Amino acid sequence: MTGRTETGTGHGADRSAPLVRVRGVTKGFGGVAALKDVDLDLYPGEIHALMGMNGAGKSTLVQVLSGVHQADGGSIGVDGHDRSGLTVRKARHLGIAFVPQRRELVMGLSVAENIMLGDLPRRGGFVSRPQMLSRAREALAGLGIEIDVRRTAGELTVAEQTMVEVAREVRRGGRVLILDEPTACLGAEAAGRIRTLVRRLRDEGVAVVYISHYIDEVLGLADRVTVLRDGRVVRSAPADGFDAGELVRAMAGRDVVSHRPERPAPADEIGLAIRGLTHGRSIRDFTAQVRKGEVVAVLGPAGDAQSYLFDLLSGRRRPLSGELHVDATPVPMGRVPASLGSGLRCVTGDRRALGLVPGLSVDENLMLADDRFHRRRLHRRGELARRSAARRKDYGVVTLGGDPPVGSLSGGNQQKVLLAKWLETAPTACFLEDPTNGVDVAAVADIHTLIDALAARGVAVLLASSSAEEAMRLADRILVVRAGRTVAEYDTTAITRDELVATALGGAPQ
Ligand SMILES: Nc1ncnc2c1ncn2[C@@H]1O[C@H](COP(=O)(O)OP(=O)(O)OP(=O)(O)O)[C@@H](O)[C@H]1O
Ligand SMILES: [Mg+2]
Repeated sequence: MTGRTETGTGHGADRSAPLVRVRGVTKGFGGVAALKDVDLDLYPGEIHALMGMNGAGKSTLVQVLSGVHQADGGSIGVDGHDRSGLTVRKARHLGIAFVPQRRELVMGLSVAENIMLGDLPRRGGFVSRPQMLSRAREALAGLGIEIDVRRTAGELTVAEQTMVEVAREVRRGGRVLILDEPTACLGAEAAGRIRTLVRRLRDEGVAVVYISHYIDEVLGLADRVTVLRDGRVVRSAPADGFDAGELVRAMAGRDVVSHRPERPAPADEIGLAIRGLTHGRSIRDFTAQVRKGEVVAVLGPAGDAQSYLFDLLSGRRRPLSGELHVDATPVPMGRVPASLGSGLRCVTGDRRALGLVPGLSVDENLMLADDRFHRRRLHRRGELARRSAARRKDYGVVTLGGDPPVGSLSGGNQQKVLLAKWLETAPTACFLEDPTNGVDVAAVADIHTLIDALAARGVAVLLASSSAEEAMRLADRILVVRAGRTVAEYDTTAITRDELVATALGGAPQ
């Protein structure tokens, strides 16, 4: 144990008393309860995982803890004192730090400026750059993070941005560190680096709250697991008291099985052909031929080639070179209408920025890409609801009450709306970028089944994924991409998941 928590408050050294004690917390949004009578104890030097299905209340709970939302009832104690009614300011003052899923760095500023913001060292009224750099370097070095503090935050990878946020919070005196899905959508290697950092913080006496949908990750990392279901704690126990099946049952209230079904063999015709696609260093000479009814996965770290593939295939960006054919017809690149007109549907991994209109309702979003919705004035309320009801049912979209704005749905439900919106337009081929990002185990299984059905209908599916499991589960073939280049190709019937991770990704299994 290092001195930080011991000298910080005098309470940190005692690992037998909870640092934070939550009792009977309730929280509702517009009459709907998101948290019901929740108890939670956080101990220093412990990684406490919060798990639960999409919408279970995990983010709401940590937002109450960090003062973003105020609880409607119940109490929060910190160091044995009642601190109910926390605000963000008070929570931070008490050392409760929250790193939300969306990175909150100022992307135009340097790493050093981001770390030191609000506490810039001054000399004679001016910011002392050498001091700022050296203190920021100390903050990173103290946690074993190797990032050049002069780099601009926007240039960093997602994992590096998370680490910088963590370093900033620890420097500000964070002794309860809350991470909301820090490894969602990261490749194996980057996720491993985040976990190493989290273990280090734990060993230094920080109370870590860790939200993740990855069961193996949580069982390998956490000391204690609390499972929320429909806003209630259904189980809280040391992590070694759970196995994967039990954890899923606690979260879902039932067993969830996801196995690779027998799909009809792909046709001989090529549904989607990409040749020599090149865009700077991001994508170099990418070639893929996907037959109708075939699923081909492009496996690599998120944010690498994948989001460029989305931009290029959807016509948002023009490549330097390369050709695209859909159903043997050439498609002009760099034009969104041409891509859409070809029968290719591209589903983004960044649903908030590009996929959904958060202020419009679920039903409106569901029907937005449907020509009939515009042509035949389906926007008359009744008609809209009737048509979208079928989609909600087929895709398992669950909402609390009526037709709320899509932005208020939990992550997994937003993802299902996004998929339904595009996949119900009868595509010839589709490109799906990380379709199960941030989605709970049951919804993952549902989405995989939807993708199977799509392939079974003869659609050529190109899937960009950062998950070896997902690629193995869904794909007939896997193209491994690193730094923009295709470095290997596998037939999924001829390789195991561990071989894939070891040989192709060069990372250890979780
Ligand atoms: N600001 C808000 N306004 C209205 N409803 C909200 C708001 N924030 C959350 N909710 C609702 O509260 C419930 C719990 O949501 P929360 O975001 O805590 O779930 P979660 O467990 O974090 O899910 P996920 O795994 O999808 O991130 C959901 O039904 C959600 O729609
Ligand atoms: Mg959440």
